[in-house]
Amino acid sequence: MSIQTEVARRRTFAIISHPDAGKTTLTEKLLLFAGAIQIAGSVKARKASRHASSDWMEIEKQRGISVASSVMQMEYRDCVINLLDTPGHQDFSEDTYRVLTAVDAALMVIDAANGVEPQTIRLLQVCRARNTPIITFINKMDREVKEPLDLLAEIEEHIGMDAVPMSWPVGMGKAFEGVFDIARDKMRLFRPGQERRDDSKDDVIDGLDNPEIAKRFGDAFTSAKNDIELIQAASPVFDRAEFLAGRQTPVFFGSAINNFGVQEVLDALVEQAPPPGARTAMERQVNPEEPKFTGVVFKVQANMDPAHRDRVAFVRVSSGKFNRGMRLKVSRNGKEIRPNNVVSFLSQRRELVDEAYAGDVIGIPNHGILHLGDVLTEGESLHFTGLPFFAPELFQAVEVKDPLRIKQLRTGLAQLGEEGAIQVFRPIAAGGALLLGAVGQLQFEVVAHRLAAEYGCEARMMASRYSMARWITAEDPKELRKFIDANASHIAYDVVEAPAFLVTSGAQLRVAEERYPSIRFHAMREHG
Ligand code: G4P
Repeated sequence: MSIQTEVARRRTFAIISHPDAGKTTLTEKLLLFAGAIQIAGSVKARKASRHASSDWMEIEKQRGISVASSVMQMEYRDCVINLLDTPGHQDFSEDTYRVLTAVDAALMVIDAANGVEPQTIRLLQVCRARNTPIITFINKMDREVKEPLDLLAEIEEHIGMDAVPMSWPVGMGKAFEGVFDIARDKMRLFRPGQERRDDSKDDVIDGLDNPEIAKRFGDAFTSAKNDIELIQAASPVFDRAEFLAGRQTPVFFGSAINNFGVQEVLDALVEQAPPPGARTAMERQVNPEEPKFTGVVFKVQANMDPAHRDRVAFVRVSSGKFNRGMRLKVSRNGKEIRPNNVVSFLSQRRELVDEAYAGDVIGIPNHGILHLGDVLTEGESLHFTGLPFFAPELFQAVEVKDPLRIKQLRTGLAQLGEEGAIQVFRPIAAGGALLLGAVGQLQFEVVAHRLAAEYGCEARMMASRYSMARWITAEDPKELRKFIDANASHIAYDVVEAPAFLVTSGAQLRVAEERYPSIRFHAMREHG
């Protein structure tokens, strides 16, 4: 197949949701419907076995959350679908944000009883900033949940997009009867089902005006019919161009645990979601169909064996064709690598990859040569922008218990910083201990645990008075210098030597903003 054909049949997306909305369940059911697994349950099982395979992940096991994101590839109809999982726990949202830079679309799962929840809102902001098209799945319709019209209003309010229902639920909870497919004018009847896929007995009834449905489902149907008529009169029809521009989200109702509504979501991914698009590098635009390989490291994960300090760099292919054993150049430093044991993530099993195309994700095991944001090419020097680092909201000072192990502390922090596990700041004030910045408390615990387990260095974490950081820039370098000199006790440099202004309160930040109008204060820094 030509590169063009391969690119056109790729769909790469992430599932975003608040913990417990049903992301894991839906992921399993998508794999089930795509034929990548036969019986649901393996994703959860694998999650559990992954916990067992490494020591530092004890922490995660204890808390029953997933620290690591993973990648799954499946084939459905003529398409190759890459599904990037994101950690649901909010302490790891920074990792999630970066995963969102590697996808072309997002699938938002909402618990119909809870509506749009805080964790989802933050993730949506990232999607909105990048105009990522979003498909919405409203889950758990088999429970007593919010009214569908209210849910739609909530979505519109929070994501600032038109929510266009593709289907409409008839009843809910114990009286959930099925969903009405608005475009096809058919009602598919709900049938609780569990682990296996079996659509041989699916019941479909035609027509919103069909007296048979009205008679059979009574009030639930009349109410759904009224809602549908209301919506058809009041809201825009689905327009793919609007969806691709991130201005409309198609909404599906269902129940993942019951296999209900899953097929519709898969079909929407294939039919509506975009294939990989062009990416903008500082030097030029990179088109996915270009013959030469380019890719970006959007995530670095410590490998399962702490003794070897192996890491896997997750690379999203941006263009061309990847062949096993090809020579690649790291744009940051011009170094050459020749990865042979590159892995793909085919439906839960890691497999050696022979070739990959734009939209695919490959994992390159390495010993620290690849950093977050690195660009790999066949020789050209390219730099992509857009890998976000968010200003931490929590700070702790870190010191080593045994002064003889200061070198281990520095190495460990440098590597964990590169991996994106934590942000490390070096205050310019003399004698200042290194500062760690995180968006979630759990990040500190993971870092302390890993420093001890992987670098043999017991670290002491101490409270810090800071509660906010802003990266600072100015058009005129002299102005920036002046600001840094005048506020030296509040300035620290991050791993790429970008200066940040640290404050103890929002009020303190506002005062600085007023006093120094020529300085720009950034809550987010883009790599590159
Ligand atoms: P997450 O990855 O987003 O955190 O959610 P997950 O899929 O683990 O689902 C969270 C809980 O919601 C699970 O129950 C799951 O069974 C349930 N769930 C998922 N989809 C549906 C649905 O369509 N209807 C109903 N009623 N429940 C659903 P749990 O008790 O926490 O876990 P488990 O013991 O069932 O594994």
